[in-house]
Order: sequence, then C-alpha cells, then structure tokens
Amino acid sequence: MEVSLHRRHAVVVCLLLCCLAGGLSSPDPRHREALIQLEVSMQTGGQVVLTDAEKRLDALLFKMKQEEVSRADFPPAMHFFRARDVISTSPIFKLLQKMPKGGALHVHDFAMVEVEWLVKNATYRPHCYMCFTDNHSIRFIFSARPPAALPRCSPWTLLENLRAKMVNSTELDNSLMANMTLFTDQDPELVYPSQDVIWKTFEQCFRALWGLVTYAPVFRDYYYQGLSQFYRDNVMYMEVRALLPEIYELDGSTHDPAWTLKTYQEVTRQFTTEHPDFFGVRMIYTIHRGVNASTMAGAVEEAMKLQRDFPDIMAGFDMVGREDSGRPLWYFKDALSLPAGRGVTLPYFFHAGETDLEGSEVDQNLLDALLFNTSRIGHGFALLRHPVAKGLSRKRGVAVEVCPISNQVMKLVKDLRNHPAAALMSENHPLVISSDDPGMFGSSGLSYDFYEAFVGFGGMRSNVGSLIELAFNSIRYSSLTPKQQQKALALWQRKWDTFVSENAF
Ligand SMILES: *[C@@H]1O[C@H](CO)[C@@H](O)[C@H](O)[C@H]1NC(C)=O
Ligand SMILES: *[C@@H]1O[C@H](CO)[C@@H](O)[C@H](O)[C@H]1NC(C)=O
Ligand SMILES: *[C@@H]1O[C@H](CO)[C@@H](O)[C@H](O)[C@H]1NC(C)=O
Ligand SMILES: *[C@@H]1O[C@H](CO)[C@@H](O)[C@H](O)[C@H]1NC(C)=O
Ligand SMILES: *[C@@H]1O[C@H](CO)[C@@H](O)[C@H](O)[C@H]1NC(C)=O
Ligand SMILES: *[C@@H]1O[C@H](CO)[C@@H](O)[C@H](O)[C@H]1NC(C)=O
Ligand SMILES: [Zn+2]
Repeated sequence: MEVSLHRRHAVVVCLLLCCLAGGLSSPDPRHREALIQLEVSMQTGGQVVLTDAEKRLDALLFKMKQEEVSRADFPPAMHFFRARDVISTSPIFKLLQKMPKGGALHVHDFAMVEVEWLVKNATYRPHCYMCFTDNHSIRFIFSARPPAALPRCSPWTLLENLRAKMVNSTELDNSLMANMTLFTDQDPELVYPSQDVIWKTFEQCFRALWGLVTYAPVFRDYYYQGLSQFYRDNVMYMEVRALLPEIYELDGSTHDPAWTLKTYQEVTRQFTTEHPDFFGVRMIYTIHRGVNASTMAGAVEEAMKLQRDFPDIMAGFDMVGREDSGRPLWYFKDALSLPAGRGVTLPYFFHAGETDLEGSEVDQNLLDALLFNTSRIGHGFALLRHPVAKGLSRKRGVAVEVCPISNQVMKLVKDLRNHPAAALMSENHPLVISSDDPGMFGSSGLSYDFYEAFVGFGGMRSNVGSLIELAFNSIRYSSLTPKQQQKALALWQRKWDTFVSENAF
C-alpha cells in the first residue's frame, strides 16, 4: 500500500511538472493547489480523515497557532528554560495537556518526577543524611545509624538537625533542588557553554539524587509519583528505561534487580487498580554504556533472565549515558549477540544517533542498532544523515523516539523549528514524541514536548490529524502485543472522543 501510494504520488508530480514545463506563462493555480495537497497528504496524520467535530477543533487550533507564531517571544525558538513559563500560559499548551496523548515510550526511571517532590518529600523524611562533595555537589543516604564517611565528601549531616538550626530552610531547599536538575533561572547558555559541560552536570545531578531514589520507601513513592504526574498529564501508558540498581533499606541491607522489577510491577498494579483508565507500564532494562564487554555480557544475561521471569512487565534492553563518550554498540557486539545465538528473544530499544558527531564511530550506532534488530530508535537525531538507516527504519516500522526538549537542552539543536524531526514528520516517518528526563529539564509529563513538536517542528501545517497519528503511533509502536494494542487503542479512542466533544466549538 505504501509503495503504490508513492507511485501514485510520483505520477501526479510528473503530470504536474510536465504541464508546468509546457510553456504556460504562469503556473496554473490548480496545479499549485494539487502540489500543496500532495505534500499535506504525505505528512504525519496526512491520511487521517477527520470527523466534523475534529474539523472544528482543527480550525480552532489553527487560529491559536497563528496567534502563537506571531508572538515576539515564540517559545520553540527559545531555550526551554526561558520558554517554559511562556508555554504554560499558552492556550494550545492547555489543550495539549487535556489531550489524551497515548503512551510515553522514552522516559528514564530517575528523571520522571519534578525535583521539587524529591526535596519537599524525600529529604524531609527521618534518617536522611547529606554530605557536600569537594566539587560543590551533594550526596544523600538514609541510615538508621550514622553512616561511614564517603571519600571526597564532608562528614554526614542529619538533614533534620541542619534544618532545625535554621530559621527558614527555603534557601537550603532551593539549593538542593538546583543540585538535582539542569533547570536554572540563570542564562542557560552561560551556565552550560558546551555539550561537555552539560553532560558532566547531568551525571552529577544523577549522583546527587541517587541516595534518595534508591532508598526502598522513596523508590516506591517516587515511581508512584511519576505515574501520577504522567497520568494527570493525560498519558495512559508508559515504557520506562530502568537501571534496576541495588535498592537499600534503612539497616543497609540491599535488594537485587528481580526485587526491583517486582516492586515496579506491584506499584504499577496498585496504580492501575486505583486508576482503571491507566493502561499500564512496561520496563526496558538499561545499563550505562561506559561499562566493559564482560559487564555488558553479564547485563544481557540478567536481562534474558528477567525477560523470562517477568514477561508481562519486561519489554527489553537498552543502554544509557552519553553516546559521544560511551562505547559504541559495535564494541558490545558479542554481548548483544548472545540472545540470538541461544534462540532467545530479547527486544532491543537502543538509544542511537543522539549525536552531531557525523561520521564518527559513535555515529555508526544508528546502523548498528538496526543490525541488532532494535525495536525502536531512541532519539535518532542523526537519522537524516543516514539514508540507509532511515530507509530501514521506515521499511521495518522501527519508530524514532523524538524527545525535543531533551535535544535542545543537551545542545543538539537551538531552535526547535529546526529539529530534524520536522523532515521526518513531513513524510510521516514512524515516530513518537517523548520526554526522556522531564525532571532534569524542569519539565513534567509529556505535554511540553508535545507542544514543541506540534508548534515547533510541526510548523503551521501539523494539525489535529497529526496529533491523532502521534497518539496512535505511541500505541502502535509500543512493545504491547497486538491484542493489548487493540485494547489500548479502544481505550484511547474513548478518551479522545470525550476530549474532542469537550473542546471543539
Ligand atoms: C511523601 O509522600 C508520601 C506518598 O505520597 C506521603 O505518604 C508522605 O506523607 C510524604 N512525606 C512527606 C514528608 O511529605
Ligand atoms: C566531583 O566529585 C565526585 C566524587 O565525589 C566525582 O565522582 C565527580 O566526577 C566530580 N565531578 C566533577 C565535575 O569534577
Ligand atoms: C523564607 O525565605 C524565603 C526567601 O528566601 C521567603 O520567600 C519566605 O517567605 C520565607 N519563609 C518564611 C516562613 O519566613
Ligand atoms: C548544591 O547544594 C549545595 C549545598 O546547599 C550548594 O552549596 C550548591 O551551591 C548547590 N549546587 C548547585 C549547582 O546549585
Ligand atoms: C570490567 O569491569 C568490571 C567492573 O568494573 C571489573 O570488575 C572487571 O575486572 C572488568 N573486566 C575487564 C576484562 O576489564
Ligand atoms: C536480526 O533478525 C534477523 C532476521 O530475523 C536474524 O536473522 C538475526 O539473527 C537477528 N540478529 C540479532 C542480532 O538478533
Ligand atoms: Zn534517553
């Protein structure tokens, strides 16, 4: 169907161009209109047939977008840290918040929740100790007894005691928050002059919040809080990249990855019981790409075991960390070939092409991810520079997980109108929109990223059809079985119809 559609397009274009070349003094406006319509029909959502109510909503959104584009402070052209408060007052954004967006397929375990919750909730619990590292960061630990000192860190201070000595701990709390997120009120270009600087800070932030989120009681509540925030943002399904690290208790005892996965499963069940219109969560086990080949082989073994023991919640395997400084996929080829060699299915969901190092070894990750039969591509920012990878991704329906705010904050693109996904959307390349690490970016849920996609690189021509197709894609390209997808789509459709009837005037 795809092929014949393209052939038909080719024929139309040829006819039109032949006419144009036929010596007319001025092009025929009907031909012009036909060419425009042809392009519109090729974009994401270009084939979606709208109901009357959806058409009314579309007209409304178009008008809103015209107003938004004429603003002097057009948010997609600004850094997200500056744009956030402008976006949150935008009428389009408010609609997108209410819109049932389907699934968020690219989100990381310890960056799901706004850091304010970590400070206001987690650090106010009893037995929370903190120390200051010699390079101005902080570390936390919960412990029944005073814990042993960390290297390169001040002696541990019980936060409860520290706060008790203060008249007002607002400033302390704000500084703790600032340690755990990239978001800043200062000029982001000055604070983060290069990709090296921002990636270093990014990893520091994770170290700062590590001792909080890996404490068993906080771990559970953090995850529950994450689901609540996405649910409130009208996301009904998630696929979470999870490190499944050692989780500890107050007495210092620890739990293994199976316990952690089981805990995710239990909390997810509790959440879906309490919110029956939330479809669920599946987990993608991840490991840092800085590890060596034998550690990777061990992780792949662990992933296969978890996949066998928790088939319902385990979706597959991926790597995290900066691609430019980590090891390329090919370095791990032996470890990554283990499952296929044993006839075991371990789906991969590789981050690949989150780089602007064109032609480097790391830039090879996109093709290698496809060689290893990746189910989706995380980011795929470099996809346009790889016509073969792009062709394979399209042909095999390997969707690209586009995370606009992440790419901007991590300094791959400045103005989100220029994001490479603009080209992908113009030809309905398989893609989904996701939010990667909202807690790190001062964002939350999925709506801010939907806004950047719809208003930024979607441009004036992305429309209600595009929104429908994006939501649809988030189910169709999920790791759910075909039967589950049908159920999820039916649930989404009911939510969508309600949304349209309540917002189309
Ligand atoms: C933190 O959140 C949990 C779960 O929502 C709640 O039960 C608890 O009382 C909160 N603790 C603090 C210190 O705010
Ligand atoms: C800061 O110190 C920690 C050890 O406490 C170290 O792991 C980290 O790499 C240092 N960060 C920078 C930016 O120097
Ligand atoms: C604490 O200090 C902050 C400013 O640092 C101020 O905005 C806030 O009102 C103060 N709170 C109290 C209870 O005094
Ligand atoms: C981290 O917290 C410490 C302690 O409050 C503070 O001195 C430091 O400025 C904070 N770092 C950042 C990046 O805000
Ligand atoms: C790989 O890394 C692990 C963990 O850091 C280490 O124990 C092991 O010795 C390393 N193996 C090789 C072959 O370098
Ligand atoms: C990828 O899929 C192909 C075709 O199904 C299969 O032959 C090959 O073994 C797979 N490769 C890996 C690394 O899983
Ligand atoms: Zn990611």
